Amino acid sequence: MDGNPPMKRYGENFTNRIGDGTGRNTQDYIEIIRLLIALKAGGSFLDIGCGKGRFCKMAIPKMSEIVGIEPDFTRYDWTKNLLQRIDNCLILNMDCHEYRKENPSKRFDIVLLSEVIQHVSTRACSKLIQELHHLVKADGVIIIATSHASPKTKGFSWQKASNSESFLSREEYDKYADDFGNHTKGIPVRRFSKNELLDLVSPKFEVVLWRQFKYVKESKVNFFVAKYNVPPEEILHYGVSQFVVLQPKP
Ligand SMILES: C[S@@+](CC[C@H](N)C(=O)[O-])C[C@H]1O[C@@H](n2cnc3c(N)ncnc32)[C@H](O)[C@@H]1O
Repeated sequence: MDGNPPMKRYGENFTNRIGDGTGRNTQDYIEIIRLLIALKAGGSFLDIGCGKGRFCKMAIPKMSEIVGIEPDFTRYDWTKNLLQRIDNCLILNMDCHEYRKENPSKRFDIVLLSEVIQHVSTRACSKLIQELHHLVKADGVIIIATSHASPKTKGFSWQKASNSESFLSREEYDKYADDFGNHTKGIPVRRFSKNELLDLVSPKFEVVLWRQFKYVKESKVNFFVAKYNVPPEEILHYGVSQFVVLQPKP
């Protein structure tokens, strides 16, 4: 994701299936963000867990105000150095709870939570979703992208899991995810089913669009069949990522 070689190699297992010839396996998701930015041009954009700022960069030419918040100091520092000279863009080293405390009445036209909630504990995930309602304008939109799995392959794990570690208990996952600074097995990884994500957001938001994306290539399916001990159709018929576009319920 952030351009590191093992992640790039892992990314070669996937395809976008939209036949656009780019080979970029998240292309359809990226184009939806581009579309929403075009529709809300001139407005404000909040990127929670902005990482290395790929979506802040996309928003800069179109939106009047961009705020990227990133709790990890190394990523924050990298992105701040990249974007700090741009007038309409502010990169902050904090989480969105702290941001809201400092800016209690601030609301955005677009709020993005991209590839964050599958790497935090279940408690931190629920807290993040609750924050969103206070950060978006009444007529604004929220985009959440995360992992996606079939009902049989959903579950909890960590990045460097052996096949026997593909389905950890929720308790084991939460303990690992909350033990910052000691992620000896790579980042925590929660695989959400569609229903799990929709159940999380449905109390406060209306789902405008849901889509799965980033599919396992047919030539790579056996690796995942062995990993999750399921038939190939449990892998091939499900994108490994999903996004939702939401609007706040009144
Ligand atoms: C996989 S990266 C995604 C980066 C970026 N959103 C993107 O899509 O390119 C996940 C990011 O979420 C950040 N993060 C982790 N916990 C967070 C939290 N509680 N609130 C906000 N961001 C968080 C991490 O530091 C990391 O930069």
